[in-house]
Amino acid sequence: MPINVNENVFSIETENTMYQMCIDELGVLRHLWYGKKTGNDMGYLLDYPYICFSPSPYDAGNNRGYSLDTIPQEYSAVGTGDFRITALSVLNTDGSEAVDLRYNGYKICKGKYSIPGLPAVYAEDDSETLEIYLVDKLTNVQVVLKYGVISKYDIITRSAVICNGGESSITLKNAASMCLDIPYGQWDWIHFHGRHAMERMVERRPLFHGIQESSSKRGTSSHQQNPAVILCDKNCNEDYGDCIGAALMYSGSFGIKIELDQVNQTRVIMGINSDNFSWTLNKNEEFYTPEVILSFSDGGFSKLSHNFHNVIRNNVCRGNYKTCERPVLINNWEATYFDFDGDKIEKIAKTAAQLGIDMLVLDDGWFGKRNDDTSGLGDWVVNEDKLKCSLSQLSKRISNLGMKFGLWFEPEMISEDSDLYRTHPEWAIKMPGRNPVQCRSQMVLDMTRSDVRHYLYNSISSILKDADISYIKWDMNSSINGWYSEKIPSDRMGEMQHRYVLGVYDLLERLTHDFPNVLFEGCSGGGGRFDAGMLYYCPQFWCSDNTDSFDRTKIQYGTSFFYPVSTVGSHVSAVPNHQTGRISSLNTRGIVSMAGSFGYELDINSLSDDEQNKIKEQVIKFKKNRDLIHNGKYYRLSNATEDDFALWEFVKDGKALVQGMIFNTEPNLIHYCVKLKGLDANKKYKINSNGCYTGAALMYGGFLLDIPRGDYYGVELYVEEI
Ligand code: GLA
Repeated sequence: MPINVNENVFSIETENTMYQMCIDELGVLRHLWYGKKTGNDMGYLLDYPYICFSPSPYDAGNNRGYSLDTIPQEYSAVGTGDFRITALSVLNTDGSEAVDLRYNGYKICKGKYSIPGLPAVYAEDDSETLEIYLVDKLTNVQVVLKYGVISKYDIITRSAVICNGGESSITLKNAASMCLDIPYGQWDWIHFHGRHAMERMVERRPLFHGIQESSSKRGTSSHQQNPAVILCDKNCNEDYGDCIGAALMYSGSFGIKIELDQVNQTRVIMGINSDNFSWTLNKNEEFYTPEVILSFSDGGFSKLSHNFHNVIRNNVCRGNYKTCERPVLINNWEATYFDFDGDKIEKIAKTAAQLGIDMLVLDDGWFGKRNDDTSGLGDWVVNEDKLKCSLSQLSKRISNLGMKFGLWFEPEMISEDSDLYRTHPEWAIKMPGRNPVQCRSQMVLDMTRSDVRHYLYNSISSILKDADISYIKWDMNSSINGWYSEKIPSDRMGEMQHRYVLGVYDLLERLTHDFPNVLFEGCSGGGGRFDAGMLYYCPQFWCSDNTDSFDRTKIQYGTSFFYPVSTVGSHVSAVPNHQTGRISSLNTRGIVSMAGSFGYELDINSLSDDEQNKIKEQVIKFKKNRDLIHNGKYYRLSNATEDDFALWEFVKDGKALVQGMIFNTEPNLIHYCVKLKGLDANKKYKINSNGCYTGAALMYGGFLLDIPRGDYYGVELYVEEI
């Protein structure tokens, strides 16, 4: 039983970790422990210092040491004398802002809870759910804290449901998914920041006293910050040390706030961004917060990443493509941009088919009036004049080549110059009387509206029914401004951002459910919405618009901390690279792209015979190793943002593949030595069909890499058990 209740102590145990809480003498749910299994009630570590100016609840009497300003809690709330960042803020009808949560029971259920309207980790028999009920006795505001357990992956999920059990309506000003209080330790935090075409750069900083934050207010999880964070002890590295990872399954504006308080305790609050958020709850209405996926590792970042990779691969991604082999695709975007017709696309497909590529993806520009990025979005009508054939004819021509056919959509968008906008200007998000603020000359559709979603469902599904389509690239190229919907009452406009996300999920749920054989790949100007929420609908996500292999080593390095390789859309593109002008060899570009859901994005017909042959070999190589790459254990062998090389390794069933790049060359270098991971110390291995090394030698001693000949030098080592 992973969940145990012993009098007033709740323990959630996974294979290697323990999460513990207790109900104290005032009925407050305290946090006791999250870390390695101890087999102990960790309450003995509770400290009751009297800290001046930290007030006590009335029912603590003269016990001045009892203060919610210092006590580690499971779900901190406003108006209780806790001056730290709080998880829940409730504005009552009388104007007071307070909610005093006390214990009101618990339930343990078989299986993992789900969340209406929101993505959540799913699991069958091998999971359990703990629900803990809290209530404010004055207002009857009730909170259900949910804990899901996937023991074998050391995963605990958290989510909260807030219910207004009172007579009059209340307004939530903040409703976080999780509060995690960590009483002891000196922690660094790692977050993943960036910008368009440079997503998920790793930044590690010691916590300072006060509040630090990683968040998005853009309506999407964003390029600028990713909704995931790691707390780690000072000495933690890839292989050693304690760390806690938390990933929010949410694709909209989010907040991760961390406070190091006056008594050196750490509090993490994570959930929907409370800026511009409010939510009215009438009598008996409920609010569901998105889910946080949590894991603890005492074996450094590698182990933590393995836990997240496992749960995302097996318990977040869904549908037929969760386990079946991902097709190697060729996308026409960087080959043609908007300049194509059906013949040109067929020509690309023909060569690609000869080289073993499985699928042709037709990107932006096939619909409406769309010959550049200033018009046409929203008009999901095939432009047969441009294609010089129908979409169903084109898809047949592609399937006659033995290939699958995929298509780009950007459902959530509307161009000012579109028939849709001319007919339904009120469907675009903009503030009344003000000109819209536009990103890439486009506006965003009001996805809170059911008529908008209905229109999109019908447009997309009729195209899916009309042509033979196996894949959709679901793009989203805008931060969202001017939150206003004529369908939402003015005093509830603070609900709009979350309602937008719920609208996107609703449409995705219906389409993925009704078209189970279609592989959905998410995209948002590259990786601007790469989060566990989107991965619930789209088992792969275009990682970045930056296809430069050197930059990609850093982007994919940051991405790998939480997200498994199978979810990372990664393509070989042309040189000089279109984003950076950098030149790297086809071999290196292939190696970097193989660490993902692999494909090509270049004018394959402009390549020499020799290059085309190399592509053929790459595709064979990738397919041969696809299972190892997508389903093996992934190890980072270097720090791609600090070291002279980026190296990673896949390990499965007695085989390993080391791939990567040495960034620069210099004369008179000595060989770089790299230590392999995940091998069996007592077994013997050969490398690239040569030699005989014990696993111990390769892991503790290492292996010498070739001296690089040229910059961005590709590295590849095939390791096989003898
Ligand atoms: C975004 C995507 C690209 C491409 C273009 C098309 O930028 O990230 O891959 O699809 O849109 O306009």
